[in-house]
Amino acid sequence: MTAEALKMTSDKVEVPASAHAYFSVKDLHAYYGESYIVQGISFDVKEGEILALLGRNGAGKTSTLRTIARLDSPQRHRGEIYLGGKAIHEMKSYQASRCGIQLVPEDRRIIGGLSVEENLVLSQVDGHTGWEIEKIYEHFPRLAERRSQDAVTMSGGEQQMLAIARALARDLKLLLLDEPYEGLAPVIVQEIERILQGVRALGITTIIVEQNAVAALKLADKALILDTGQIVFQGSAQQVLEDETLRHDYLAI
Ligand SMILES: Nc1ncnc2c1ncn2[C@@H]1O[C@H](COP(=O)(O)OP(=O)(O)OP(=O)(O)O)[C@@H](O)[C@H]1O
Ligand SMILES: [Mg+2]
Repeated sequence: MTAEALKMTSDKVEVPASAHAYFSVKDLHAYYGESYIVQGISFDVKEGEILALLGRNGAGKTSTLRTIARLDSPQRHRGEIYLGGKAIHEMKSYQASRCGIQLVPEDRRIIGGLSVEENLVLSQVDGHTGWEIEKIYEHFPRLAERRSQDAVTMSGGEQQMLAIARALARDLKLLLLDEPYEGLAPVIVQEIERILQGVRALGITTIIVEQNAVAALKLADKALILDTGQIVFQGSAQQVLEDETLRHDYLAI
């Protein structure tokens, strides 16, 4: 049936299936100067889903997250990015953040010399629409106990919790996590997992990049494997766990 015919059979304008996805990336390419890093990737995530973005070192995972969050580097990109029907790809990072896209980078960007609470309050600037501080403390009792402590003196796990809490203090619709489990003991990883399950229960969509692929896949609904900036697998998290070749070739697990 042609597009014209479709329109005539319905009062509603028909849209392609992928347009119904809550978050979607269409034929995205990204460059650092002349280096061509993200080489034409497309994927969809439904609202409230968790996507594990996996692949070897240098595959382009961080670059993909940074491009979605509209940071200045990679300096150049082409392709489309949509969140809830809104085009993100031409936005500046502060605009993407106002639309609800929050990146928790690998180094977590906790501000030293400021308390936990001051770090949270600073995240609430620009037309506050996120969680109130007291609500954050209800969900993160460890942060409540340490509200006056210099944030950089906290343990790695506590700092990761603060980084996620700061995203919640902003308008949070899409949470981008770059290696949240790095350097954390298994019991702390489990605690962060519970927090992320809570985030999913709120209907927030998450993309998690992780070297600990098993932990990420345990949490995720869907998985995407990148290799030299291209998608080599897209499917359910379960499929990856069951595919020995994929695990061996791209994830070393
Ligand atoms: N600022 C930059 N300038 C030039 N090249 C860069 C820059 N940042 C990253 N790259 C290159 O882009 C490629 C992809 O890097 P990226 O950080 O996205 O990989 P990754 O999948 O996150 O890897 P890892 O698992 O090691 O974190 C790498 O070859 C890297 O050297
Ligand atoms: Mg990386």
